[in-house]
This record gives sequence, structure tokens and C-alpha cells, in this order.
Amino acid sequence: MRDPAIGEILVQADELNHRIDQLGTEIARDYAGREPVLLVGVLKGALFFLSDLMRRLDVPCEVDFMAVASYGSATQSSGVVRILKDLDAVIEDRHVLVVEDIVDSGLTLQYLVRNLRARGPASLEVCALLTKPARRQVELEPRYVGFEIPDRFVIGYGLDHQERYRNLPYVAVLQSSART
Ligand code: PRP
Repeated sequence: MRDPAIGEILVQADELNHRIDQLGTEIARDYAGREPVLLVGVLKGALFFLSDLMRRLDVPCEVDFMAVASYGSATQSSGVVRILKDLDAVIEDRHVLVVEDIVDSGLTLQYLVRNLRARGPASLEVCALLTKPARRQVELEPRYVGFEIPDRFVIGYGLDHQERYRNLPYVAVLQSSART
């Protein structure tokens, strides 16, 4: 897609593919014997990653979704999270793997993990495609991480700017001139 807002590509489509292959193998190995694993996708950004990851998991698995909104500005979360859509599934005694597109401050994930842990799952882990360690405000490291990226505003492969660019097949930097 030609668009002046799309800047440097940080993760190419083939790098995403390769890394998701590796994550799929690692996760399937770790969860063998603890099945079915329930993948919890956090809408909307994780949609693409979750769908690609799940197709690589050679173990019985199920999927459910949550939608959350963070009170705060468009580019910065506040840590106060509102659940817009809760899980359909009851997760007590289930093996749950939360799938996120990106961990930035970590505040959204901290809230989610606390909230889900209170429901008594048998296990609870997080798989995040991208993480920006430089932005972290809380101590929290996902069990599985695709790529560590620098502190840049990124779009593509699920990540948006004002709801656009989620369909890019790669992860790119949003040109600063496009930020409003
Ligand atoms: C993004 C991302 C995480 C959160 C990370 O969601 O999917 O949920 O922000 O930020 P944090 O670590 O600073 O809390 P966003 O609110 O952009 O919603 P979206 O997935 O629907 O685009």
C-alpha cells in the first residue's frame, strides 16, 4: 500500500512468518499434555497475530476474545481499563494463554492478568508479538515474545493509527508527520 504515512518497515512479513512458526512450535511443546489451551485474543489489534499463531499450534486449542478500552489519550494508556466485551468462556481450571499484539506501558496487560487470575485458571501466560521495553511502567514480561522493538509508533499487522493500517502485512513506523 502506497501511503506517505507508512515509514520504515521494522518487521517484514517473512520475519513475522518465521517468528510465528517458532512461537507456535514452542507453545505447542509447552502445552502438550495441558490441553485444550484457551487462547484469549485482546481485540482488536491481536486479531491477525492470534489467527496466524493458532494455525501453527499442533495441540488442541480453543479461542475466545476480550475487548478492553483504556481511559487515556489515543497513544497512551492510563492503567484504568474498562472491559467492553468479556470472555464467553469460564476459565476456572483452564489453561489460558492471553494473546496480545503489543505491550507498551504494560498497564493494559497488568490489568488483564490480574483480572483473569482472579477467576482461578489452572495456568495463565501471555504471548505478545511485540514489546517496547523502553516504555514499560510496570514490571511485567510476557512468557512468549515475538520481537522487541524501539520506542516508535508502529502500525500494521493488526496495529492501527486511528483504526487504519491494520491490514498491512508488515510492521512499520508511522511517519511523525502523520501523527495527530
Ligand atoms: C493496544 C494493545 C494493548 C495496549 C498496549 O491496544 O493492543 O492492548 O494498547 O498498551 P499498554 O501496554 O500501554 O497498556 P489499543 O488500545 O491500541 O486497542 P486496539 O488493539 O483495538 O487497537
